[in-house]
Amino acid sequence: MSKIAILTSGGDAPGLNACIRAVVRAAIFHGLKIIGIHRGYDGIIEGDFFEMDAASVSNIIQRGGTILKSSRSERFKTPEGRETAFQQLKKAGVEAVIVIGGDGSLVGAKYFTATYPIPWIGIPKTIDNDISGTDYAIGFDTASNTAMNAIDNIRDTAESHNRIYFVEVMGRNSGSIAYKTGISVGAEAIYIPETNTDLQHLFKIFESGWSRKKSSLIVVVAEGDEAGGAFAISKKVKEKFPQYDTAVCILGHVQRGGSPTCADRVLASRLGVATIDALLSGQKNIMVGEVKEEILYTPLENVLKRQLKITPAMTELIDILSI
Ligand code: F6P
Repeated sequence: MSKIAILTSGGDAPGLNACIRAVVRAAIFHGLKIIGIHRGYDGIIEGDFFEMDAASVSNIIQRGGTILKSSRSERFKTPEGRETAFQQLKKAGVEAVIVIGGDGSLVGAKYFTATYPIPWIGIPKTIDNDISGTDYAIGFDTASNTAMNAIDNIRDTAESHNRIYFVEVMGRNSGSIAYKTGISVGAEAIYIPETNTDLQHLFKIFESGWSRKKSSLIVVVAEGDEAGGAFAISKKVKEKFPQYDTAVCILGHVQRGGSPTCADRVLASRLGVATIDALLSGQKNIMVGEVKEEILYTPLENVLKRQLKITPAMTELIDILSI
């Protein structure tokens, strides 16, 4: 093998640049040529390729976003789109593709490799941390810390005004950021898509908190919570307790950007180098993850969307800490 390609696909996440850097440097270290593909799977279809060298990834380990740009490609979901992608890769002499992506991008890779002979290796990134085969996906640690810092700031203003804040964090189908961040900011309640939102329980927390003269309350809500998100929950609380001063804050895409944390930079670097090791040892059509600090290779067909498991102990933790 002498020529490989790399791309980033799906929603961006902090740590993508650190991972691109690791893949490019490890490839060059081992004497491989490396092609960068712009704009994810759309970029393969359009042949948007360029040759990378060690200097193309200088001074990016600390930067958010992705120097390769990204997309959620509709065209790659179709057989015609994948056929065009194959022709473009063949024309450029690409012998293996490395995608840094979430579960949608890894499913795309699975479909491609079921038909075409070009090997594919996936590296998991998503702030939602909902991919099996790795303890953490690149970006989750940074996004959780960004949300935590933002909510710490909100707590200051909540305290100053004796106000209840409903803070919505990202996670259309995942409560991972909400759960971890909620614990880290001492939230009075956390609502996520994986559990049933019990508003009666919330009302009790408010009644007991206020009677003990708590001067602020923070409720962290994942964007995909089935009760309808932070605005919907806030509205129901206001109907029951019109005397409370309430406010809603949607953190949104601020969680996707910014400089990656130490944990994300190290994870991204490690997975990037392990990916080149995997290719050189003849592995193909796998995802490279890290479980209990060991590198784990999972066949693409076995990679699944993972649901956060909330145990009774995790629920109890929130209840005990928010009395
Ligand atoms: O999958 C990552 C994520 O940030 C989710 O938490 C969120 O629901 C979604 O992407 C938002 O996607 P978009 O940037 O396309 O609106």
